[in-house]
Amino acid sequence: MKLDVYFTPLGLTAGDLAGRGVIVIDVLRATTTIVAALASGARGVVPTATSEDAVKMTANLERDGFVLAGERKYLPIPGFTLGNSPREMTPEEVSGKTVYLSTTNGTPALVAAQGADPVLVGAAVNFAAVAERAATLLRDRGDLVIICAGREKQIALEDAYTAGRIVRSARKGLRKVVLNDSADIALGLAQRYRSWVDAFTSSDAGRALQALGMEQDVQFCAAVDKYDLVPTYSDRLIT
Ligand code: MLT
Repeated sequence: MKLDVYFTPLGLTAGDLAGRGVIVIDVLRATTTIVAALASGARGVVPTATSEDAVKMTANLERDGFVLAGERKYLPIPGFTLGNSPREMTPEEVSGKTVYLSTTNGTPALVAAQGADPVLVGAAVNFAAVAERAATLLRDRGDLVIICAGREKQIALEDAYTAGRIVRSARKGLRKVVLNDSADIALGLAQRYRSWVDAFTSSDAGRALQALGMEQDVQFCAAVDKYDLVPTYSDRLIT
């Protein structure tokens, strides 16, 4: 059995992922935001590689059927209705609508994972549910990939920690799971922090969000098992 972690999607090609099950993580904050939007009744989330793509894809759609959301440097994109805060994904804002989401690292990582099957969306807020799917995929297929979005083309501590928690949980009770080096390192990180919030607030992204007054977003993203749903990305739509 093989369990691979990638700390960033850089260099991954569709060929690397064909026929494999993938979990994508951008826990601060894109994948948390996606889980929260679906939990609030969004019809689906379309991750876009750029904000221009989001604008183009919605140009001819009925205005009340979608909402544009996203961030650049953590702040809402001018002209977009919502930012990338999971706390903004309320039923009032997103219920019954398709959310077109553009973020710096998270949505490009999801777009890069297209071609895998299934592509699942992982975060702390749906940890138990996603870890269970991870264990099932590993047991049934003997193979699993976890892709971290990372930050500024580098490893992001909060994503690597989350990946390590999934690795630890998914391989429990299974024999002979071969980890790649990144999975092994992620597993070590999972032992190192006392709690999710401890890991998240120790990260560059966690500190940046706190410096911008978004401490509550970090707390929200660390609210483990708040939701019991595992979003799936298929045919350009996350549901
Ligand atoms: C990203 O995609 O880089 C993040 O989700 C940034 C953020 O916290 O808004």
